[in-house]
Amino acid sequence: MTRHTDSGREDGTDSTTAEPLPGEISESDDSEVPRTLPDGGTATDDGETTLDPWGSATVADYRKLFEEFGIEEFDEMLAEVPDPHYLMRRGVIFGHRDYRRVARAMQNDEPFAALSGFMPTGDPHIGHKLVFDELIWHQQQGGDAYALIADLEANSARGMTWDEIDEHARDYLLSLLALGFDPEEGELYRQSDNRELQDLAFELGASANFSELENIYGFSGETDVSHMQSVVTQMADILYPQLDEPKPTVIPVGPDQDPHVRLARDLAARTQFFGVTKAYASFEADEEERELLAAAYAALSEEVGEEETVRCEDAADWLEAEMAPDDARDSVIAKLGEAGKEPLRPRVRFLDRNATDEAFEALIDAIEGEKRVFDEHIDTFELSREDAEDLAREVEMDHGGYGFVAPSSIYHRFMTGLTGGKMSSSVPASHISLLDDPEDGYDKVKAATTGGRETAEKQRELGGRADECPVYELYAYLLAGDDDEFAKEVYDECVGGERLCGDCKEQAAQLMREFLAEHQEKREEVEDLLEQADIELDSDRKRD
Ligand code: TRP
Ligand code: SF4
Repeated sequence: MTRHTDSGREDGTDSTTAEPLPGEISESDDSEVPRTLPDGGTATDDGETTLDPWGSATVADYRKLFEEFGIEEFDEMLAEVPDPHYLMRRGVIFGHRDYRRVARAMQNDEPFAALSGFMPTGDPHIGHKLVFDELIWHQQQGGDAYALIADLEANSARGMTWDEIDEHARDYLLSLLALGFDPEEGELYRQSDNRELQDLAFELGASANFSELENIYGFSGETDVSHMQSVVTQMADILYPQLDEPKPTVIPVGPDQDPHVRLARDLAARTQFFGVTKAYASFEADEEERELLAAAYAALSEEVGEEETVRCEDAADWLEAEMAPDDARDSVIAKLGEAGKEPLRPRVRFLDRNATDEAFEALIDAIEGEKRVFDEHIDTFELSREDAEDLAREVEMDHGGYGFVAPSSIYHRFMTGLTGGKMSSSVPASHISLLDDPEDGYDKVKAATTGGRETAEKQRELGGRADECPVYELYAYLLAGDDDEFAKEVYDECVGGERLCGDCKEQAAQLMREFLAEHQEKREEVEDLLEQADIELDSDRKRD
């Protein structure tokens, strides 16, 4: 549906006004390529990608996110989401990590949560609206919804004063409520004002060290400590919904935030009392090795039948004969050789990560069926991996641990700027603020670049390029709302040559004007709701 060559921040714009910071991961002006994202996620890549309106085609620009970073394609699990949001249906939400957990909870009416954060560095705009909508949708699906103001981050990483932060924070919150967030059901907070959050950040900080932040974010000796603190604060944000009770939690963000998500997933695992993995024999194996072991086991157990035992040395021979040599194969063959006559048998293993002796003992007692207890792990033969994870979490919580479930994420595409190229907060004509005067919004759409042809004649002949058109994006991401038919009609008429850009922009401009007028009216209506909400609007930190 969209052609995407720009990059930017979680909110859909980049922030060319900000000073580049060492390793600032969401920075993406021309001079600075986010180090943690592949080329495909940056403005330097002008690879051509054409998508159909429903986002099922391949995405050259985003492919590396899948290939190199292990983000999964959202389309592949769309069918598992009950009543998916239009941003999901249209491929605007294109990727995820572990969102199946959340979808499963939705299907089974089990608890789940959604959380995202906003740095109050400017006006909320149509890029932020994507994230607001995602949070609100999860809330309407029955999830616990959290929206936070990342004021510590804005202060430390962007140098915003507390006065500026207060002003912008209010604007974000009003737009969020105006779009339908229910502050009584959900939770709003600001980082600076949440003691529980900061305590959690402190705990998590004990599991991360400087070298790691250096690797992930490119931090250096020049990076100030508060900036680092804002990273552990974000880690705490991401796990915060689970403080009362562990539950699947989705973090809707732009792909620029993926490094944060990965680190949070790592930290969640590090705080766990017990790790749970699959294993095939007494030795440890990594994921690739486990796949080989699984293949060898499947083939050999078929050969020898139920009664006979598959031995490690036979699996070594089998892998030697059947698999092409590579590092994983060679190392697993060596391990199997050493294990010799030991039986090869699938099992679920509990690893002792941070468990107290008492918790370890309690886990041993709690495991039903055949088990083998070792110094630092327990092998079980009658538990599924999922049941094992639940059991581990239960024992952990009984013994004073957090029991975090690894957080999930969903990623949305960044919008193209109205003037072509990137949507940038520093170029007002390139984006539409939710606070723009409706007439200005109208004018900006009218002045937008399009994917149209040079002449009307050519357009009728060849059709327009909706996939490369920022105006079409406006329809798909916002103006068509939930109406898929309307979005598809615009697309089909455009590429079929029936729609000309002048009229198309006029229609979009009018819709934008209406949207802004209505939104701003609603903002006024929710002022009281915000006053009553449990969030401090005036920071008492005024020294800058
Ligand atoms: N770092 C995010 C940004 O740059 C803001 C943020 C803070 C956030 N904490 C979060 C986003 C937790 C998602 C989840 O905008
Ligand atoms: Fe874009 Fe509309 Fe022109 Fe098609 S007709 S290129 S969607 S402005």
